[in-house]
Amino acid sequence: MAALLDKFGRPITDLRIAITDHCNYKCVYCRTGNEGALYRDLPIADYLRMAGVFAALGIKKVRLTGGEPLLRKGIVELVRDLAKLRSADGEPLELAITTNGHLLAEMAQPLKDAGLDRVTVSMDAVDRDRFARITRVPNGYDNVLAGIRAAKRAGLEPVKVNCVLLRGFNEDQIIPFGKFAREEGVVLRFIEFMPLEEDRVWSPDVVVTLDEILERMSEYLPLVEIPHARSETSRRYRFEDGLGEIGIIAPVSHPFCGHCSRIRVTSDGKIRTCLFSVWDHDLHAQMRRGATDAELEAFIREVVLHKEERHHIGEPDFIPASRTMVHIGG
Ligand code: GTP
Ligand code: 5AD
Repeated sequence: MAALLDKFGRPITDLRIAITDHCNYKCVYCRTGNEGALYRDLPIADYLRMAGVFAALGIKKVRLTGGEPLLRKGIVELVRDLAKLRSADGEPLELAITTNGHLLAEMAQPLKDAGLDRVTVSMDAVDRDRFARITRVPNGYDNVLAGIRAAKRAGLEPVKVNCVLLRGFNEDQIIPFGKFAREEGVVLRFIEFMPLEEDRVWSPDVVVTLDEILERMSEYLPLVEIPHARSETSRRYRFEDGLGEIGIIAPVSHPFCGHCSRIRVTSDGKIRTCLFSVWDHDLHAQMRRGATDAELEAFIREVVLHKEERHHIGEPDFIPASRTMVHIGG
């Protein structure tokens, strides 16, 4: 079967499925302090069917996101079923989860046993008090640290840690996170803050850029850039002495849209062709009306042709995305 290509010739190989938009954290750069409106989660079996259709279309990697995906009952069984799927080339899918890590300590091994390959944990401060101020949860830090260590023990490697940097708030955590990467044996990835939050706090001044991160980290130890895959979000660096790796995801200062291979399904079953899409495409409505798998495939192929060329962050014609990050999944 022909590969899934958008109209710019980009092969779409990575699917991110949000399995809930509920989250137990209220990170200051993501959520308002309130509960916020929730979309309705779908039955787990519906996400599995969607993944199967995408796999038949040549998707190779499936990442489960949220909200916070570990809150969703049935996630271990879902991973077990996803691990039985095959991509169009007959290979198993690569399976990953992005989580805040709060519930990971007890779930890492069961997820590994079910067939999960890798995990990425969001963690925006090494300092305990700062962590609590960012997440607006009193005792999360120890849980997340235990979760990261359990993921390492379970072999969900490489364990990646995502840190969104905000000027004046946590950019002093850059060097402590460099040390953390080396001590804990995780890949620490700094992310430039994008305008996808519920409270409109984004401005270009708040973004800590790739160049600044490199400069600051080099005051600690020299870094050497290492090659990254074309479609990878992150530029990769190792410390010169060979111990530890960091990454920088720089969608604002160094956009990577030209090699984007990603497509997303929201927790309520809508396809998003870009984080910054201003509309979505209702895949679940097709399922509800009784579409066959072949009809779903045709729907997805058509939707992919509408994938945006690039985002317009920081430009005068920027139009905010129709959903915030917690309702997309990252
Ligand atoms: P791996 O490299 O396989 O670990 O996957 P990944 O980098 O896609 O995973 P992850 O969920 O850790 O994504 C990292 C972050 O990069 C996301 O949370 C977003 O902040 C950002 N990101 C991911 N995809 C896109 C994208 O398509 N566009 C933009 N602008 N940012 C993205
Ligand atoms: N800009 C960049 N990254 C973000 N994340 C959440 N909101 C933003 C934003 N506005 C990150 C989270 C998590 C991943 C899903 O996306 O910290 O690591």
